[in-house]
Amino acid sequence: MQSLLTQPVFLLGFGGVGRALARQIVASRDSLARRRALRLTVIGAADSHGIAHAAQGFDDDALMRLIALKERGVHFEPADLPQLPANCIVVDTTATEATVPMLLSTLRAGGGVALANKLPLAGDLSWFDAISAGRARWETTVGAAMPVIQTLTYLLDSGDEVRRIEGSLSGTLGFIAAQLEAGVPFGDAVRDAKQRGYTEPDPRQDLGGRDAARKALILARMLGYRLNLSDVRVESLYPAEMDALTVDAFLREVDGLNARMAQRAAVLTRGGRKLRYAAVVEAGECRVELTGVDPASKLGSIRASDSIVVFTTQHYQDNPLAISGRGAGQEVTASGVLGDVVSLANQMR
Ligand SMILES: NC(=O)c1ccc[n+]([C@@H]2O[C@H](COP(=O)([O-])OP(=O)(O)OC[C@H]3O[C@@H](n4cnc5c(N)ncnc54)[C@H](OP(=O)(O)O)[C@@H]3O)[C@@H](O)[C@H]2O)c1
Repeated sequence: MQSLLTQPVFLLGFGGVGRALARQIVASRDSLARRRALRLTVIGAADSHGIAHAAQGFDDDALMRLIALKERGVHFEPADLPQLPANCIVVDTTATEATVPMLLSTLRAGGGVALANKLPLAGDLSWFDAISAGRARWETTVGAAMPVIQTLTYLLDSGDEVRRIEGSLSGTLGFIAAQLEAGVPFGDAVRDAKQRGYTEPDPRQDLGGRDAARKALILARMLGYRLNLSDVRVESLYPAEMDALTVDAFLREVDGLNARMAQRAAVLTRGGRKLRYAAVVEAGECRVELTGVDPASKLGSIRASDSIVVFTTQHYQDNPLAISGRGAGQEVTASGVLGDVVSLANQMR
């Protein structure tokens, strides 16, 4: 029987996913001790304003008080980053590139990093190279907790040749595509998605396709494609001129796109095809776009708001390997990050 390992963890970002992770760390204590002889100890957390730090680790009551504090909208006090133990696992659940120096220094010091944040992996290629070569996990950057990154890593490690990756990687754009397919005017679909909380506060962040493009880029880079975000062909569902509008003005004027989007949907769904916002990574290239797919295909048969990634490989050619399910949500994402942290802790043991 293994002796109980105490693994220090620092949480960079303490928003929806970061706090859900902290709660799940507390809730999983017994099962992690029993199954993995592991105790995760949160030694600090950072938000956009400051840091809460406890060199010996927060006990569970203190961690729950920290969560309650942030839920009341209180920010952490400004402070310098503490010196972290060399074996620390740093978890990045922010949405900023500002974390990159800390991620890289953690890796250099011999620690591990787990990212839900796509930006470090979809930014400068040298960041991707350093992170992907280190003790790092980034399962939730594509498809939340669905095992997309693990599967791709396994396929590549097993010597299979991955020829094409196709996916529907945005629940929000999947929802809007389904509405368009059903004949709902584009403007109504966008406002409905926003009202249901499916979009970012500024829906253009989803409609512009860049989030889906970053996910596709991470998969492409894992295949060895030396691409940057500017190399990904991205179809935005609104014209660039509308970037100058306030969110409210955009939501009013978006109806001006109704006729154009209805026509595009009609063309793409001719012959009963299903409308999807799809990512394709193939032959050194990467694109995300609105497209029509065969209803019997893997992409055509998922629920519109679910995510799917389909790998066509040397060994999975006639019947490509598909992973589908819920590809977003703070709780499910936090569970994927927890899986990454446990996997890193086991590797570092
Ligand atoms: N939600 C999902 O379904 C999902 C799925 C997969 C991946 N993700 C990714 O997970 C990440 C987190 O999502 P979320 O929903 O938890 O976002 P969120 O609620 O906005 O939380 C982001 C957190 O990062 C903090 N932060 C911002 N800048 C920082 C900095 N420079 N240093 C330290 N902390 C900083 C924020 O601080 P304040 O508290 O002070 O604002 C906040 O605590 C994002 O990258 C997202 O794309 C989310």
